[in-house]
Amino acid sequence: MYRIREVDGDDEDVAETLADLHRLTFFDGAPLPDFAHGHWWVAYSNALPVGFAGIVPSTHADNAGYFSRVGVLQRHQGRRLQLRLMRALELRARRNGWREVVSDTTDNLPSANNFIRAGYRLFKPRVPWAWPNTLYWRKFIV
Ligand SMILES: CC(C)(COP(=O)(O)OP(=O)(O)OC[C@H]1O[C@@H](n2cnc3c(N)ncnc32)[C@H](O)[C@@H]1OP(=O)(O)O)[C@@H](O)C(=O)NCCC(=O)NCCS
Repeated sequence: MYRIREVDGDDEDVAETLADLHRLTFFDGAPLPDFAHGHWWVAYSNALPVGFAGIVPSTHADNAGYFSRVGVLQRHQGRRLQLRLMRALELRARRNGWREVVSDTTDNLPSANNFIRAGYRLFKPRVPWAWPNTLYWRKFIV
């Protein structure tokens, strides 16, 4: 029913689709990423894009990927698409030779629960990069 596909964020149409999904899931809650940077996936229901996720090289942890965004349109939530997107980007991180995936959540129980389900652990970065109440997640993938 749902298919996850890695997409080329350099492609103008793809970047537009990702930007639409970002707007519809994050509203004004986070700045629009540069989709030409890193690796991006789209979840499709039939041919319709309903979710997305991206990973970029981490600027905070050595030899690591930063899971930068995940969003699923509300009417398609509850089908564990975040987990499926996470599996796809972990595979890519492993292929890139990265040692770990790091990420963060702020006031987001559904997403934090998915990090737990996917085997991530909480950690305290040497230099925390977000808010005082942000949770930082990591998973070693080698
Ligand atoms: C976080 C997010 C990607 C998770 O989406 P998802 O993959 O559909 O999530 P899940 O399938 O794991 O479902 C999450 C919870 O919502 C519940 N749920 C079920 N149907 C739902 C619906 N129609 N609407 C909302 N939640 C629903 C699920 O039961 C689940 O609860 P549980 O963990 O107690 O079982 C999604 O909520 C989202 O896009 N949020 C906005 C953007 C965002 O916050 N991104 C993450 C930033 S860290």
